[in-house]
Amino acid sequence: MAKIVGISGSLRAKSYNSALLRVAAQLMPSGATLEIATIKGIPLYDGDVEERDGIPAAVTALKERIVQADGLLLVTPEYNNSIPGVFKNAIDWLSRPPADASRIFTGRPVAVIGASPGGFGTILSQQAWLQVLRTLQTRPWFEGRLQVSRAGSVFDANGELTDDKIRAQLKDFMQGFSAFVTQQKG
Ligand SMILES: Cc1cc2nc3c(=O)[nH]c(=O)nc-3n(C[C@H](O)[C@H](O)[C@H](O)COP(=O)(O)O)c2cc1C
Repeated sequence: MAKIVGISGSLRAKSYNSALLRVAAQLMPSGATLEIATIKGIPLYDGDVEERDGIPAAVTALKERIVQADGLLLVTPEYNNSIPGVFKNAIDWLSRPPADASRIFTGRPVAVIGASPGGFGTILSQQAWLQVLRTLQTRPWFEGRLQVSRAGSVFDANGELTDDKIRAQLKDFMQGFSAFVTQQKG
């Protein structure tokens, strides 16, 4: 049984990326699950706070959800052709302290997808994640790609996915990533 945890990089209630994550959870193949975790409640990284108070509770809780899963799915928006600050901030906290980072990230199967109202579907944000995932020594899955462009016409006002082509692509993506995660479990 492959257990994947997914995180949306948007705090917005009507986020396309959070909607994409919810749909992904419904399209998982049998024998695999996708649990939804959140970056909500994670404060801005501040080295003084870390030194004084240690790792915030919201960060510790997210760490444990990742550790208890076999794979990690990042669902990323794109801001100014790169990673949104709130999402990078969450991953930065998760990488602290350095002595604990390998428990969270080293060798962990990771996949990245994303949605944007524009025409390029988070391609540059997904690209920007690569150097972070490399630094954290994760095991990215590269055999699938999902960049949802024109998100405003792909989701309805309730965040339901109305585009059958994207649904099929997302289903294929989750099937491929789940198989990879299962294989990596050995
Ligand atoms: C500061 C900022 C910068 C943005 N830059 C980009 C961008 O470079 N490329 C893009 O496709 N969309 C960009 N957008 C639009 C976002 O893709 C859009 O707000 C999207 O809905 C955010 O994801 P969400 O729906 O999951 O919150 C930007 C939005 C903001 C607020």
